[in-house]
Amino acid sequence: MLSKRVSQLEASPTLVITAKAKELKSKGVDVIGFGAGEPDFDTPDFIKEACIKALQDGKTKYSPPAGIPELREAVSEKLRRENKLNYEPSDIVITCGAKMALFLVFSVLLNQGDEVLLPTPYWVTYPEQIKLLEGKPVKVPTGKDFVLTVDLLKEYTTDKTKALVINSPNNPTGVVYPPEVLKEIATFCYEKGIFIISDECYEAFVYENAEFISTASFSDSLREITFTVNAFSKTYSMTGWRIGYVACPPPFVKAIASLNSQTISNATTFAQYGALEALKNPSASEYVNKMRLEFRKRRDKAYELLRSIPHISLIKPQGAFYLFPDFSYYAQKLGNDIKLAEELLERGKVACVPGSAFGTEGFLRISYAIDTESLEEGIIRISRTLENLS
Ligand SMILES: Cc1ncc(COP(=O)(O)O)c(C=O)c1O
Repeated sequence: MLSKRVSQLEASPTLVITAKAKELKSKGVDVIGFGAGEPDFDTPDFIKEACIKALQDGKTKYSPPAGIPELREAVSEKLRRENKLNYEPSDIVITCGAKMALFLVFSVLLNQGDEVLLPTPYWVTYPEQIKLLEGKPVKVPTGKDFVLTVDLLKEYTTDKTKALVINSPNNPTGVVYPPEVLKEIATFCYEKGIFIISDECYEAFVYENAEFISTASFSDSLREITFTVNAFSKTYSMTGWRIGYVACPPPFVKAIASLNSQTISNATTFAQYGALEALKNPSASEYVNKMRLEFRKRRDKAYELLRSIPHISLIKPQGAFYLFPDFSYYAQKLGNDIKLAEELLERGKVACVPGSAFGTEGFLRISYAIDTESLEEGIIRISRTLENLS
């Protein structure tokens, strides 16, 4: 018999739709997958080579639970240089991806019944991790532009509110919070004694005039209440390497490192050397830039094509690699967005993730981490399938 804790876990809907699409593909069906949550580029060779060298040099043993000192040092430098954040290497714990970093943060923060505010739409994993730790995820609606406001935040804050998760650039909307809004929200949290968990995984993918800013960089006092979570996964196309980190106020670092040590021991040692190379190699920024430019081109293409479909509305996202159009008109015809996603997969042979997976019904998430030809073909398929619905 499964524990109560685990039996209430919901399978990640993004993975469910990807699995269904894969199953169809394995049967020879030509399916276009818009479900991808990872860049479709390969990890740069110089990173792979650094990892191979680490293996050859015998870096095959346990590392310290908080990570190899060189990587903690390099992350500290990166945060100072790129994010205007003053974290010492000793304030940083290297984790198995951002996902584990988040789980560790929730673990050290939450007692039973503690509430965590999640602006909707949110990344699917947050509520599941919070529930697993006996906390209470609280959905907070956002405005039409998917940006949280202090007024909305006030409405959902109670004496049990422990933390707020901010994810900008956002998965699934691609929205980037304007700095002044972010500052206002963070200041409210500081005044109310609410911790901030700032998930900055998509920081590298910001387009046009949008500005990415680390929440903790506004002031020293905000840094004292913020857990800055990030990873190498998206920025360097290293999703399978499982290397991320959390930078946080000193009182929490020891607990997070201990928990890391009692669960996974340490993030894979030789993979940490690959991550170190990502931060040290001068070619890295060129590689990231190339990816960013390519994503931006695809976003523009997908946005134009989607806009021409009748009865859907969408905002032009300024970050990440997702579009999140409102398909309510069609979802209602079929019952809901899950039925719509199923219809699109079965009839149109195109896989999208339903918005309800992210706490927002009637929408579909479309990932453009896919080659341009497939992107165009997939949207044409969506359009045709919807035409036949009306
Ligand atoms: C918003 C967000 N946070 C965290 C993660 C997890 O990242 P990692 O693969 O580094 O665990 C993802 C991955 O999809 C994500 O979209």
